[in-house]
Amino acid sequence: MYNREANIEKYNNGIKRVIITEEEIKEAIAKAGKEIDAMYDGRPILLVSILKGAFVFMADLCRAVSVPCEIGFMCAKSYYAGTSSSGVVKITMDLDQDISQYHVVIVEDIIDTGRTLNDVVNMLKQRNPLSLKVVTLLDKPDRRIVDFKADMSLFTIPDYFVIGYGLDYAEEYRNLPYIAEFNTDML
Ligand code: IMP
Ligand code: MG
Repeated sequence: MYNREANIEKYNNGIKRVIITEEEIKEAIAKAGKEIDAMYDGRPILLVSILKGAFVFMADLCRAVSVPCEIGFMCAKSYYAGTSSSGVVKITMDLDQDISQYHVVIVEDIIDTGRTLNDVVNMLKQRNPLSLKVVTLLDKPDRRIVDFKADMSLFTIPDYFVIGYGLDYAEEYRNLPYIAEFNTDML
């Protein structure tokens, strides 16, 4: 037997407070879309998002650009031995495009330690794209272990664990339309 009220209460208790509203996200994405249009000036681009976290951002960002645009998805998991700052990225789902003919824009949800993206960027560079840039929705620079800078970052946030708009805690909360701080009392 499931307990409807208890399930809903537990889920809602995980949401501590909204830190970025739907409206703020919308505005920032419209601006980012215009910057991408100006940057590529009609050159075709390939937006590559890293699943699962970036799927919502990708869906909105791709509709905010008007340069010729294709989309691709990949799924990456990184494994690190001890404190080593750069690891082996394991691609569990790869792009189906040969990227050597594309201006690639990686679309990421959040840069935390920087390790995943650092590995993915190094790997994609070896495939010789025409150019490679990184756009991230969120950036937590305080947590950085690998020196990594995105070319475009929509919001810089302090060291909170955040959920919503694609980001999860234990696979839940990706569907929230805003970014919230996760209530760590739940842990
Ligand atoms: P890193 O930059 O290699 O540490 O990894 C970043 C990945 O960790 C992101 O793509 C997210 O999937 C996950 N992550 C980091 N910080 C958060 C957070 O605050 N909420 C949810 N996921 C996070
Ligand atoms: Mg991610």
